[in-house]
Amino acid sequence: MTDWREPVLVGFYLAASLCFILALKWLSHPGTARRGVRVGEFGMAGAIVATLLHADIVDVRWIVVAAILGAAIGAVIAVFVPMTAVPQRIAFSHACGALAAALVGTGEYLLNRSSISTFTMAVLGAEMLLGYLTFTGSMVAFGKLQGVVRDRPYVFPGQNLVNGAALALGLVLVGVITAGPSRVWLLPALIVVSLAVGVMLVVRIGGADMPVVISLLNSFAGLSGAALGFAIGNPILIVAGALDGSAGFVLSVFMCRAMNRSLVNVLFGAVGTDDTATGGEHRPVRSTTAEEVAMFLDAANLVIIVPGYGMAAAQAQHKIRELADLLERRGTEVKFAIHPVAGRMPGHMNVLLAEANVPYDHLVELEDINPELARCDVAIVIGANDVVNPAARHDTASPIYGMPIMNVDEARAVVVIKRSMRAGFSGIENELFYLPQTMMLFGDAKTAAGELVHEVSRLPGGVSA
Ligand code: TAP
Repeated sequence: MTDWREPVLVGFYLAASLCFILALKWLSHPGTARRGVRVGEFGMAGAIVATLLHADIVDVRWIVVAAILGAAIGAVIAVFVPMTAVPQRIAFSHACGALAAALVGTGEYLLNRSSISTFTMAVLGAEMLLGYLTFTGSMVAFGKLQGVVRDRPYVFPGQNLVNGAALALGLVLVGVITAGPSRVWLLPALIVVSLAVGVMLVVRIGGADMPVVISLLNSFAGLSGAALGFAIGNPILIVAGALDGSAGFVLSVFMCRAMNRSLVNVLFGAVGTDDTATGGEHRPVRSTTAEEVAMFLDAANLVIIVPGYGMAAAQAQHKIRELADLLERRGTEVKFAIHPVAGRMPGHMNVLLAEANVPYDHLVELEDINPELARCDVAIVIGANDVVNPAARHDTASPIYGMPIMNVDEARAVVVIKRSMRAGFSGIENELFYLPQTMMLFGDAKTAAGELVHEVSRLPGGVSA
C-alpha cells in the first residue's frame, strides 16, 4: 500500500495498540475496570475501521453485512446472558475467535500456497493447529460449564500418552506441510487432528478447573491470532494477540496459585474424578433464624461478609449491600472478604459487589482479611463453601489441601447462608458447618439476606432499611 491510507492505517493501529495496553492496565483494578472496558472497545472499533481502509479490500459490502450481524448477535448475548453464565459465554467467545483465526489461516494457505515462504508456512501451520484445537477445547469447556457435557473428567489408562501422541502427530503434519506447501491433501488431516486434540485435552479436566482452562485457551487463541498477524503481515493482530496470549497465561498461573495447584496438575491431573463425596447430611448442625442472627449482629462491632458462588447464583448482592449499609448506620464496622477464586470466574465477587455499589475500600483481599477474622464478632458466609473450608489447612487427603482459604472458623460467631448441606464445587464436606460457633441459616441467599435486612431494621434503637 503506497497511497495516503498507509500512514492513516499505521496511526490508527498505533492508537488501538495503546488503547489495548491501557485497557489491560485499567481492567486489573475494580475502581478503573469500567474505564478499561470502554478504552478496549474504543481501540477495537478503531482497529476495525482502520482495517477497512486497507488497499487490498476492494469491496466492503460483505464485511459490513458480517459486522452488522456479528454486532447484533453480540448485543443480544450481552443483554440476555445472566451474570452466572458469563464463564461459559467467555468460553464460547474464545471458540468463535479461535475458529475465525483458524479459518483465515486456512484461507491464506489455500490462496497463497504456491508462493508462500517456509517461515510464513510454519507460522500458518502452527496457527491452524492452535486455532482449531482452541476451538474444540473451548466448546468442550462451554459444554461442561453449561451442563451439557459431563462435569467430571473422562479418564482412561495411558491417556496422557495418547494425547501427547496426537499432539505430536499434529506437529509432524505442520512440519511436513511446511516442507512442501503443495501437499494440500494433508490439510484435512491437520484440521481433524487439531480438532481432536482440543477435545481430548479438555474432556479429561474436571468442571471445577474450567476457569483455568478457559484462560489458558484464551492465551492459545491470542497466540494463534498473533501468529496469524505475522503470517498475513497485520501488526494490530500481532499486538492484540500477544497481549491476549500473555494476559491469559498469567491469569491461568495466578488462578492455579490461588488454588495451590500447578498448571501441570490442572491440565494432566484429572482432579475431580471422585464421585463419592456428598457433604455429610447425617451429622447434627445448629440451624438458626434471621431473628436470632439479627440479635448477634446487634451486639457486633465488626462484621465480615464472605461471599461465594451462591451469592452470584441467587443475585443476592444488592440485598447484602443493603444489610451492610444498615449495619454501618448502626455504627457496626462491615468488611467484605474477597477470595481470589470465590465464584466461578476471576474477579466474580468484585464484579457483583461493584454492580451493587459496594465501595471498593470495603472489599478486602484474602491475605489482609485473615488477620482480621480473629477479632471479628460475626462472619456471614453467603453462598461460599470451598473457600472457607478449614480442611484446606490441615487435611492432607483433601483435594483442596493447601488452597489458601478464609479463616472464618476463627471468628467468634459464624452464620452460613445456604440452601442445604450439599457440598460446594469441589464436592467435599465442610467441617466449618459443624463447629460450635457456627449457625446455619438455610435458604436462598437473596431471600435470607432480605429477611436479615428486615430483622435488623426492626431492632430497638435502629434505623430502617
Ligand atoms: P462453592 O464451594 O462452589 O459453594 C457454593 C455454595 O453456594 C454451595 O455450597 C451451595 O450450597 C451454595 N448456593 C448455591 N446456590 C445458592 C443459592 N441460590 N442461595 C444460597 N446458597 C447457594 O463456592 P465458593 O466458596 O465460591 O468456591 C468456588 C469454587 O470454585 C472453589 O472450589 C474454586 O476452586 C472453584 N473454582 C473457582 C474459580 C474462580 S476463578 N472463581 C476457578 C476455578 C475453580 P447449597 O446448594 O446448599 O445452597
